[in-house]
Amino acid sequence: MADLLASEQLMRFSEIIDSALTQQRELLHSPDKRKSDKPLRSFSVREVSHALRVKYNSLRQYLNTLEGMPAGTLEAGNRKYFTADEVNQILEVLMAEGKIGPERFPRRQPGDDQARLVVYNLKGGVSKTSLSANLAQFLALRGYRILAIDLDPQASFSDMFDIQADVDELPSIYDVLRYEDPHTGAAPLPITEAIQATYVPNIDIVPGSMSMTEFEFETSASFRAGDGGTPFHRRIADALELVDDYYDLVLFDTPPHMSFAVIAAVYAARGMLIPLSAGMLDVVSLAKFLELAAGTMEVVEQHQDKRYDFIRFVLTRYSASDPAQLQLSSFLRTHLRDAMLKHDFVSSTAIADAGNTMNPLLEIDPSGFNRKTYDRIFESLSGIADEVDAEIMRSWGRIPFEREDD
Ligand SMILES: Nc1ncnc2c1ncn2[C@@H]1O[C@H](COP(=O)(O)OP(=O)(O)OP(=O)(O)O)[C@@H](O)[C@H]1O
Ligand SMILES: [Mg+2]
Repeated sequence: MADLLASEQLMRFSEIIDSALTQQRELLHSPDKRKSDKPLRSFSVREVSHALRVKYNSLRQYLNTLEGMPAGTLEAGNRKYFTADEVNQILEVLMAEGKIGPERFPRRQPGDDQARLVVYNLKGGVSKTSLSANLAQFLALRGYRILAIDLDPQASFSDMFDIQADVDELPSIYDVLRYEDPHTGAAPLPITEAIQATYVPNIDIVPGSMSMTEFEFETSASFRAGDGGTPFHRRIADALELVDDYYDLVLFDTPPHMSFAVIAAVYAARGMLIPLSAGMLDVVSLAKFLELAAGTMEVVEQHQDKRYDFIRFVLTRYSASDPAQLQLSSFLRTHLRDAMLKHDFVSSTAIADAGNTMNPLLEIDPSGFNRKTYDRIFESLSGIADEVDAEIMRSWGRIPFEREDD
């Protein structure tokens, strides 16, 4: 291949791998092998009571007495279980019957801005994706209608929900954000055509794709051409207008590098969650990152003043048994105070997948798990979800619900 141009050589390799992968896929991906072919597991009354923040005994009573409640399914041990759709139905009945107030009913009311949360840290491997996926599932189960936008060309968030735009040739976020084709004049896709439903009720995804790197090239080219089209920073916010009424929360998972797409997400967002893992907690790199983030924000603010509803930090892969981490955590709490979430995303090898992402906790059947380990991770993630939920509620002018022990 030596006489080929480098681009031709790379293209050859691409074609070879592509056809090899297609063949392999045909072998591997027989229909019953995909995670998304199975629905999400069902939830016990205890779990539903926790998700909807209704006392266990009250919930049992409501389930038996209120009209319109789902019947659930009897499973092992003669216990009742509810699907995520049924959990939502329960939520609707509780709200309609006045058993819970708007602070536990995570749907926007007229006049509420769509909540938009960007999970942001330029450092790789700090649990952005694991946190986003778990947070999405916890919030979806309690009723938020969520659109997740995967801005990472690696698309690991989409992968976790078994949506692979590059493999299945689905439209991705690239097709929504891209510039008009100078040759064909083809316009970008409306976001509605790139949205995929997932096996988790209330979570839809605009998948990530390798072609997001094209968006970066196209953006640079558009600067040079001065073409007067929609500027890059507005492309996500503009695209979202079409679905403004359909989702309560838009969640952005971002790649571990600065990109035009990240800036566009930061521009579209109204809240920011910055995961910090012990790995990056040489505090110097944190300060440096924040300085960079401030610089990015200034780029955005040249176009429009940006005021976020909240910016919060969360410790991830946290292990309290490691003295160095304990020390660091108290250092950060002393200095960042309320900007740090009270709950840490605990480290657990038990749920860290052998692949590159962990399984979202709600997909794991607790009965097949060491109870103490499960509870520890559950408390960690549910606590984070409560705190983020509270921020969103505040942004809607509601007084957040304080969970009581049951
Ligand atoms: N709480 C945790 N406990 C143990 N392992 C974790 C935890 N969270 C994430 N991991 C593991 O750490 C690795 C990185 O996590 P993840 O992909 O969520 O980070 P990321 O910030 O999204 O990475 P990237 O910057 O590459 O996008 C994964 O292998 C994941 O399984
Ligand atoms: Mg990631």
